[in-house]
Amino acid sequence: SRTAAVIPAAGRGVRLGPGAPKALRAIGGTPMLVHAVRAMAASRAVSLVVVVAPPDGAADVRHLLDEYPLADRDSTRTDVVVVPGGETRQASVRLGLAALPDDVTAVLVHDAARPLVPVDTVDAVAAAVREGAPAVVPALPVADTVKQVEPRTGERAGEPEPVVATPERAVLRAVQTPQGFDRRTLAEAHEKVALEGEGATDDAGMVERLGVPVVLIPGHEEAFKVTRPLDLVLAEAVLARRRA
Ligand code: CTP
Ligand code: MG
Repeated sequence: SRTAAVIPAAGRGVRLGPGAPKALRAIGGTPMLVHAVRAMAASRAVSLVVVVAPPDGAADVRHLLDEYPLADRDSTRTDVVVVPGGETRQASVRLGLAALPDDVTAVLVHDAARPLVPVDTVDAVAAAVREGAPAVVPALPVADTVKQVEPRTGERAGEPEPVVATPERAVLRAVQTPQGFDRRTLAEAHEKVALEGEGATDDAGMVERLGVPVVLIPGHEEAFKVTRPLDLVLAEAVLARRRA
Protein backbone atom coordinates (compact mmCIF):
# COMPACT_ATOMS: atom_id res chain seq x y z
CA SER A 1 0.00 0.00 0.00
CA ARG A 2 1.36 3.39 -0.87
CA THR A 3 0.40 7.03 -1.19
CA ALA A 4 0.49 8.89 -4.51
CA ALA A 5 -0.03 12.54 -5.36
CA VAL A 6 -1.98 13.64 -8.43
CA ILE A 7 -1.15 17.18 -9.55
CA PRO A 8 -3.69 18.71 -11.97
CA ALA A 9 -1.63 21.16 -14.05
CA ALA A 10 -3.58 21.20 -17.31
CA GLY A 11 -5.28 24.58 -16.92
CA ARG A 12 -4.52 27.62 -19.05
CA GLY A 13 -4.60 30.17 -16.26
CA VAL A 14 -7.00 32.57 -17.94
CA ARG A 15 -7.32 34.74 -14.82
CA LEU A 16 -3.54 35.14 -14.61
CA GLY A 17 -3.55 36.76 -18.04
CA PRO A 18 -1.75 36.00 -21.31
CA GLY A 19 1.42 33.92 -21.36
CA ALA A 20 2.47 30.31 -20.92
CA PRO A 21 0.07 27.83 -19.27
CA LYS A 22 -0.11 28.79 -15.59
CA ALA A 23 1.70 25.72 -14.24
CA LEU A 24 4.73 26.56 -16.38
CA ARG A 25 5.02 30.20 -15.27
CA ALA A 26 8.06 30.82 -13.09
CA ILE A 27 8.29 31.81 -9.44
CA GLY A 28 11.81 32.64 -8.33
CA GLY A 29 13.01 31.40 -11.71
CA THR A 30 11.48 27.93 -11.29
CA PRO A 31 8.20 26.81 -12.91
CA MET A 32 5.24 26.64 -10.54
CA LEU A 33 4.73 22.99 -11.40
CA VAL A 34 8.27 22.13 -10.34
CA HIS A 35 7.67 23.78 -6.96
CA ALA A 36 4.46 21.77 -6.60
CA VAL A 37 6.11 18.46 -7.53
CA ARG A 38 8.95 19.17 -5.09
CA ALA A 39 6.47 19.92 -2.30
CA MET A 40 4.80 16.53 -2.82
CA ALA A 41 8.09 14.65 -3.24
CA ALA A 42 9.43 16.22 -0.05
CA SER A 43 6.77 14.38 1.94
CA ARG A 44 8.09 10.99 2.99
CA ALA A 45 4.59 9.59 2.68
CA VAL A 46 4.45 10.23 -1.07
CA SER A 47 6.26 7.72 -3.28
CA LEU A 48 4.69 8.54 -6.64
CA VAL A 49 3.63 11.81 -8.28
CA VAL A 50 1.32 11.87 -11.31
CA VAL A 51 1.45 15.21 -13.12
CA VAL A 52 -1.54 15.96 -15.34
CA ALA A 53 -0.17 18.16 -18.13
CA PRO A 54 -1.94 20.35 -20.69
CA PRO A 55 -3.49 17.95 -23.26
CA ASP A 56 -1.02 18.92 -26.00
CA GLY A 57 1.92 19.52 -23.68
CA ALA A 58 2.71 16.23 -21.94
CA ALA A 59 6.04 15.75 -23.76
CA ASP A 60 7.15 19.32 -22.96
CA VAL A 61 6.24 18.88 -19.31
CA ARG A 62 8.15 15.60 -19.18
CA HIS A 63 11.26 17.33 -20.53
CA LEU A 64 10.85 20.22 -18.14
CA LEU A 65 10.64 17.91 -15.12
CA ASP A 66 13.74 16.05 -16.30
CA GLU A 67 15.61 19.37 -16.43
CA TYR A 68 14.80 20.34 -12.85
CA PRO A 69 15.99 17.93 -10.16
CA LEU A 70 13.47 17.04 -7.46
CA ALA A 71 16.04 18.42 -5.01
CA ASP A 72 17.78 17.31 -1.89
CA ARG A 73 14.71 16.76 0.23
CA ASP A 74 13.48 13.85 -1.89
CA SER A 75 14.67 11.22 0.54
CA THR A 76 12.30 8.52 -0.73
CA ARG A 77 13.18 8.66 -4.44
CA THR A 78 9.78 9.64 -5.71
CA ASP A 79 8.69 8.45 -9.16
CA VAL A 80 7.16 11.12 -11.41
CA VAL A 81 4.75 10.16 -14.19
CA VAL A 82 3.25 12.65 -16.70
CA VAL A 83 -0.14 12.16 -18.38
CA PRO A 84 -2.18 14.48 -20.62
CA GLY A 85 -5.12 16.26 -19.00
CA GLY A 86 -8.66 17.18 -20.00
CA GLU A 87 -11.06 20.06 -20.58
CA THR A 88 -11.95 20.57 -16.93
CA ARG A 89 -10.10 20.16 -13.66
CA GLN A 90 -12.36 17.24 -12.84
CA ALA A 91 -11.52 15.49 -16.12
CA SER A 92 -7.83 16.12 -15.50
CA VAL A 93 -7.97 14.59 -12.02
CA ARG A 94 -9.85 11.59 -13.41
CA LEU A 95 -7.12 11.06 -16.02
CA GLY A 96 -4.50 11.28 -13.29
CA LEU A 97 -6.31 8.71 -11.15
CA ALA A 98 -6.49 6.35 -14.13
CA ALA A 99 -2.68 6.32 -14.28
CA LEU A 100 -2.22 5.06 -10.71
CA PRO A 101 -0.80 1.57 -10.19
CA ASP A 102 -2.85 -0.99 -8.25
CA ASP A 103 -0.83 -0.80 -5.03
CA VAL A 104 -1.76 2.84 -4.41
CA THR A 105 -4.32 3.00 -1.60
CA ALA A 106 -4.22 6.70 -0.69
CA VAL A 107 -4.21 9.72 -3.00
CA LEU A 108 -3.40 13.38 -2.45
CA VAL A 109 -4.81 15.72 -5.10
CA HIS A 110 -2.80 18.93 -5.25
CA ASP A 111 -3.19 21.96 -7.52
CA ALA A 112 -0.06 22.93 -9.43
CA ALA A 113 -1.36 26.44 -8.76
CA ARG A 114 -0.49 26.05 -5.03
CA PRO A 115 3.27 25.80 -5.51
CA LEU A 116 4.37 26.89 -2.03
CA VAL A 117 2.42 24.53 0.22
CA PRO A 118 4.67 23.61 3.19
CA VAL A 119 5.67 19.97 3.50
CA ASP A 120 4.21 19.87 7.02
CA THR A 121 0.76 20.46 5.55
CA VAL A 122 1.28 17.68 3.01
CA ASP A 123 2.47 15.34 5.76
CA ALA A 124 -0.50 16.17 7.99
CA VAL A 125 -3.02 15.40 5.22
CA ALA A 126 -1.27 12.15 4.31
CA ALA A 127 -1.10 11.08 7.96
CA ALA A 128 -4.81 11.70 8.54
CA VAL A 129 -5.70 9.55 5.51
CA ARG A 130 -3.35 6.79 6.59
CA GLU A 131 -4.99 6.85 10.03
CA GLY A 132 -8.31 6.02 8.39
CA ALA A 133 -10.10 9.22 7.36
CA PRO A 134 -11.62 8.70 3.88
CA ALA A 135 -11.34 12.40 2.95
CA VAL A 136 -9.13 15.10 4.49
CA VAL A 137 -8.96 18.76 3.48
CA PRO A 138 -6.64 21.53 4.70
CA ALA A 139 -8.60 24.71 5.35
CA LEU A 140 -8.39 28.15 6.95
CA PRO A 141 -10.97 30.51 8.45
CA VAL A 142 -12.19 33.09 5.95
CA ALA A 143 -10.90 36.62 6.47
CA ASP A 144 -13.62 38.44 4.54
CA THR A 145 -17.31 38.40 5.29
CA VAL A 146 -18.99 36.49 2.44
CA LYS A 147 -22.31 37.47 0.83
CA GLN A 148 -24.62 35.27 -1.19
CA VAL A 149 -25.98 37.26 -4.13
CA GLU A 150 -28.21 37.07 -7.15
CA PRO A 151 -25.38 37.12 -9.70
CA ARG A 152 -25.56 39.59 -12.58
CA THR A 153 -23.86 37.99 -15.55
CA GLY A 154 -24.05 38.11 -19.35
CA GLU A 155 -25.88 41.24 -20.52
CA ARG A 156 -26.38 42.37 -16.94
CA ALA A 157 -22.74 41.99 -15.86
CA GLY A 158 -21.54 45.01 -13.92
CA GLU A 159 -24.97 45.95 -12.56
CA PRO A 160 -25.28 46.15 -8.78
CA GLU A 161 -25.97 42.68 -7.38
CA PRO A 162 -28.74 42.16 -4.81
CA VAL A 163 -27.68 40.43 -1.59
CA VAL A 164 -29.64 37.29 -0.72
CA ALA A 165 -27.98 36.28 2.55
CA THR A 166 -24.90 36.63 4.75
CA PRO A 167 -23.70 33.26 6.10
CA GLU A 168 -22.20 33.45 9.56
CA ARG A 169 -18.46 33.87 8.96
CA ALA A 170 -17.43 31.81 11.98
CA VAL A 171 -18.77 28.60 10.39
CA LEU A 172 -17.10 29.12 7.00
CA ARG A 173 -13.69 27.76 5.94
CA ALA A 174 -11.67 28.34 2.77
CA VAL A 175 -10.30 25.05 1.51
CA GLN A 176 -6.90 24.33 0.02
CA THR A 177 -4.99 21.40 -1.39
CA PRO A 178 -3.56 18.78 -1.12
CA GLN A 179 -6.86 17.08 -0.40
CA GLY A 180 -6.26 13.51 0.71
CA PHE A 181 -8.46 10.50 0.05
CA ASP A 182 -8.85 6.82 0.36
CA ARG A 183 -8.17 5.89 -3.27
CA ARG A 184 -11.35 3.84 -3.81
CA THR A 185 -13.57 6.53 -2.35
CA LEU A 186 -12.13 9.20 -4.64
CA ALA A 187 -12.30 6.95 -7.71
CA GLU A 188 -15.94 6.16 -6.95
CA ALA A 189 -16.75 9.86 -6.57
CA HIS A 190 -15.15 10.66 -9.93
CA GLU A 191 -16.91 7.77 -11.70
CA LYS A 192 -20.25 8.91 -10.34
CA VAL A 193 -19.69 12.49 -11.44
CA ALA A 194 -18.47 11.35 -14.87
CA LEU A 195 -21.73 9.43 -15.32
CA GLU A 196 -24.04 12.09 -13.93
CA GLY A 197 -22.08 14.93 -15.46
CA GLU A 198 -22.37 17.18 -12.45
CA GLY A 199 -19.90 19.86 -11.50
CA ALA A 200 -18.22 20.31 -8.13
CA THR A 201 -15.43 22.81 -7.57
CA ASP A 202 -13.23 20.51 -5.52
CA ASP A 203 -12.62 16.80 -5.09
CA ALA A 204 -13.90 16.72 -1.53
CA GLY A 205 -17.19 18.20 -2.74
CA MET A 206 -17.63 15.19 -4.99
CA VAL A 207 -16.91 12.81 -2.12
CA GLU A 208 -19.46 14.63 0.05
CA ARG A 209 -22.09 13.81 -2.55
CA LEU A 210 -21.42 10.12 -1.97
CA GLY A 211 -22.39 10.71 1.65
CA VAL A 212 -18.85 9.97 2.82
CA PRO A 213 -17.63 12.14 5.72
CA VAL A 214 -15.05 14.82 4.90
CA VAL A 215 -12.92 16.34 7.66
CA LEU A 216 -10.88 19.54 7.74
CA ILE A 217 -7.45 19.99 9.28
CA PRO A 218 -5.55 23.29 9.60
CA GLY A 219 -4.29 24.60 6.27
CA HIS A 220 -1.45 27.08 5.81
CA GLU A 221 -1.33 30.65 4.50
CA GLU A 222 1.49 29.70 2.12
CA ALA A 223 -0.72 27.08 0.46
CA PHE A 224 -2.65 29.91 -1.23
CA LYS A 225 -3.63 29.48 -4.87
CA VAL A 226 -1.96 31.53 -7.58
CA THR A 227 -4.97 32.74 -9.52
CA ARG A 228 -4.52 36.42 -10.42
CA PRO A 229 -1.43 38.53 -11.18
CA LEU A 230 -1.21 39.87 -7.61
CA ASP A 231 -0.83 36.28 -6.37
CA LEU A 232 2.43 36.03 -8.34
CA VAL A 233 3.77 39.05 -6.47
CA LEU A 234 2.91 37.37 -3.16
CA ALA A 235 4.44 34.06 -4.27
CA GLU A 236 7.71 35.76 -5.24
CA ALA A 237 7.82 37.48 -1.85
CA VAL A 238 7.11 34.28 0.09
CA LEU A 239 9.85 32.46 -1.79
CA ALA A 240 12.35 35.30 -1.25
CA ARG A 241 11.58 35.25 2.48
CA ARG A 242 12.08 31.50 2.59
CA ARG A 243 15.45 31.76 0.86
CA ALA A 244 16.67 34.60 3.08
N1 CTP B 1 -6.62 22.31 -14.09
C1 CTP B 1 -6.43 21.13 -14.84
N2 CTP B 1 -7.18 20.91 -15.97
C2 CTP B 1 -8.08 21.82 -16.37
C3 CTP B 1 -8.29 23.01 -15.63
C4 CTP B 1 -7.53 23.23 -14.47
O1 CTP B 1 -5.58 20.31 -14.49
N3 CTP B 1 -8.77 21.59 -17.50
C5 CTP B 1 -5.76 22.56 -12.91
C6 CTP B 1 -4.93 23.84 -13.05
O2 CTP B 1 -3.77 23.59 -13.85
C7 CTP B 1 -4.63 24.18 -11.61
C8 CTP B 1 -5.79 23.58 -10.82
O3 CTP B 1 -6.51 22.74 -11.75
O4 CTP B 1 -3.41 23.63 -11.14
C9 CTP B 1 -6.67 24.65 -10.21
O5 CTP B 1 -7.35 25.35 -11.22
P1 CTP B 1 -7.29 26.93 -11.46
O6 CTP B 1 -6.56 27.60 -10.38
O7 CTP B 1 -8.66 27.37 -11.85
O8 CTP B 1 -6.30 27.01 -12.75
P2 CTP B 1 -6.67 27.33 -14.25
O9 CTP B 1 -7.94 26.62 -14.61
O10 CTP B 1 -5.46 27.07 -15.05
O11 CTP B 1 -6.91 28.93 -14.17
P3 CTP B 1 -8.15 29.77 -14.77
O12 CTP B 1 -9.39 29.17 -14.15
O13 CTP B 1 -7.88 31.17 -14.36
O14 CTP B 1 -8.07 29.56 -16.26
MG1 MG C 1 -9.80 27.11 -13.62
